[in-house]
Amino acid sequence: MTARQLPHARRRSKGGRRVLSSCGRRVRRRPACDRGAASGKALSIHTFLLRRRQVHSLVVVAHPDVASLTHGLAREVTAALSDDGRSAELVDLTAEAFDPRFTAADLLHYRDEGPTPLDVVGEQARLDRAQQLVLVFPVYWWSMPALLKGWIDRVFINGWAFEYAPAGRLLPKLDQLSVHLLAVAGGDVDGYERHGYSNALRTQIEHGIFGFCGASIASTRIVYDSETAPVEALAAEVDFTVKQISTLPAAL
Ligand SMILES: Cc1cc2nc3c(=O)[nH]c(=O)nc-3n(C[C@H](O)[C@H](O)[C@H](O)COP(=O)(O)O)c2cc1C
Repeated sequence: MTARQLPHARRRSKGGRRVLSSCGRRVRRRPACDRGAASGKALSIHTFLLRRRQVHSLVVVAHPDVASLTHGLAREVTAALSDDGRSAELVDLTAEAFDPRFTAADLLHYRDEGPTPLDVVGEQARLDRAQQLVLVFPVYWWSMPALLKGWIDRVFINGWAFEYAPAGRLLPKLDQLSVHLLAVAGGDVDGYERHGYSNALRTQIEHGIFGFCGASIASTRIVYDSETAPVEALAAEVDFTVKQISTLPAAL
């Protein structure tokens, strides 16, 4: 992405201050090319490349403005994950008017007393087709926007994302899903580290949501200073982030 293509060309400069970024990775699996070794079936590079080609990604964006940096990032990521035989679907929760409200129907379903609401069935079907999920969102109050949180509340429900065995033991059900988190933040890295916001955000989403459901976190990246950094710095940040996500091995 060039500075010219970057949405929000209006951004104020912060006196040339560098955009800092944090990249954390918690990969619970061995690299994809090593997988199979434990079962005595080491993957050949040919098999690894073939499997990589079959990866389908679901990119979910939650931001009300299609001209935003967040949307630009989501589009770039989707394009990068669609090359070389891979496929990717971009889901714009605002454009699709996804209803994030957890209703009485959702509660009945949660209690095993009612059917899965139809719109939730559709979202789960999209996720069932994907090996990778990429969430792209602006940080609102040190977390994800309510629209995306509601999508998680309603879609990642018991019976589909996890279930309880009769003895009360938790059975995570999304162990085939690999997740990338892309958060766009107005704040700077110093504030995030000083107050523990970065860790708090990662703990609740990586561990609290996806860890609970058995999914792997492939990468988490926070793009800081989104409202104030120079356009060139943000463009470079977007390029780096997109390249990183598109070259990381997916959970297969
Ligand atoms: C309701 C609201 C809450 C926000 N809360 C935070 C916050 O807690 N931390 C933060 O770093 N930025 C916060 N911001 C700033 C947004 O993260 C920032 O506007 C967004 O990253 C800009 O993305 P965009 O350039 O794609 O529009 C908030 C913005 C809004 C509108």
